[in-house]
Amino acid sequence: MEFVTLNDGVKIPAIGFGVFMIPADGSTYEAVREALDAGYRHIDTATAYFNEEEVGKAVRDSGIPREEIFVTSKLWLSQYGYEGAKKGIERSLKKLGLDYIDLYLLHQPYGDVAGAWKALEEAKAVGKIRSIGVSNMTPKLWNTFVPQFKTMPSVNQIECNPFSQQKEMRAIMDVNDVKVECWYPLGHGNAELLNHPTIVYLAEKYGKNAGQIILRFETQEGFITLPKSTNPERIKSNLDIFDFALTQSEMDEMRSLDTGKTSHDPDADGVEDYLLNAFKIED
Ligand code: A2P
Repeated sequence: MEFVTLNDGVKIPAIGFGVFMIPADGSTYEAVREALDAGYRHIDTATAYFNEEEVGKAVRDSGIPREEIFVTSKLWLSQYGYEGAKKGIERSLKKLGLDYIDLYLLHQPYGDVAGAWKALEEAKAVGKIRSIGVSNMTPKLWNTFVPQFKTMPSVNQIECNPFSQQKEMRAIMDVNDVKVECWYPLGHGNAELLNHPTIVYLAEKYGKNAGQIILRFETQEGFITLPKSTNPERIKSNLDIFDFALTQSEMDEMRSLDTGKTSHDPDADGVEDYLLNAFKIED
C-alpha cells in the first residue's frame, strides 16, 4: 500500500474502503472485516452513513493494531455550529468506540461551517482527531468558507474520476498542499468510463482491469481514492495497483478525458435543504 502525506504530516493510505449505503444490519461489520482481511487499512465512514458502530467494532475485533488502520468519519450538516460540532465529534467517537479518529471531515459545506470547523480544530489540538478536512467544496464554497478558518484543511473529499478531474478546485487546493480524496472514483460504475477505448487499451497493455487503470491514474495523480465494490474479487483487485505505472504520455492521455463536469453540483440551489431532509441524525 502506498501512502499520501497530508499537509499536517499525517500519512494516509492512498486507497480506502468506503461504506456509504452499506446497512448497519451486520453487513457493514462483515464488509469491513473482509476489507481488512483483503489488506485495506483505511476505512471511510460518516455520521450520515449510520454505520459507525459496526465500523468501529470491525476495527476493534480485527486484531490489527489500531495505529495500522486509518479511520475517517464525517460530521453531518444538522450538527453544524461550534456547540453542535463538539457534540457530533463526541458522538462519532462513542459510536465508533475508538479513542481517536484519524480524519474527520465536515461532510457538506453549508450553514455554520466556520463554527463547526473551530470545534474540529480544537478536537485535533487535544488528540481526539489526527487530521481535519472538508468535503464537497467547490471553488465558490471554498472561497466563501476556508478564508474564515485558522487551520488549512488537509483534504477535500469530492467527486473525482477521469471524467470529472476537478482541475479548477485542485488549482486552489494545491496552493496549500490540500489533498483530493475521490468519491465516485470509478464514476459510480459509469459504463462509458469503464469501456472508454483509452482505458480498455491500457488495461490490455498492463494486464489489469479498467477499474485498476482508473485507480492507478488517480493515485499516480496524488489523489486518495475510495473505490466502492460489493464483489469480493474486485474489492481485492482494486488494491492491486502498485505493481505497474502509467507513463507520462499515458497520464496525459488520461488527463485529456476530463469533461469538467460532475454528477452532483454542490453549488446548486436547494442542496442544503435536500440533504438535511434526506439524512436525519438522531442522538
Ligand atoms: P461491483 O460492486 O459489482 O464491483 P464508485 O466507486 O465510483 O462509486 O463505483 C462503484 C461501481 O463500480 C460499482 O458498481 C462497482 O460494481 C463497480 N466497480 C468496482 N470496482 C470495479 C472494477 N475494478 N472494475 C469495474 N467496475 C468496478
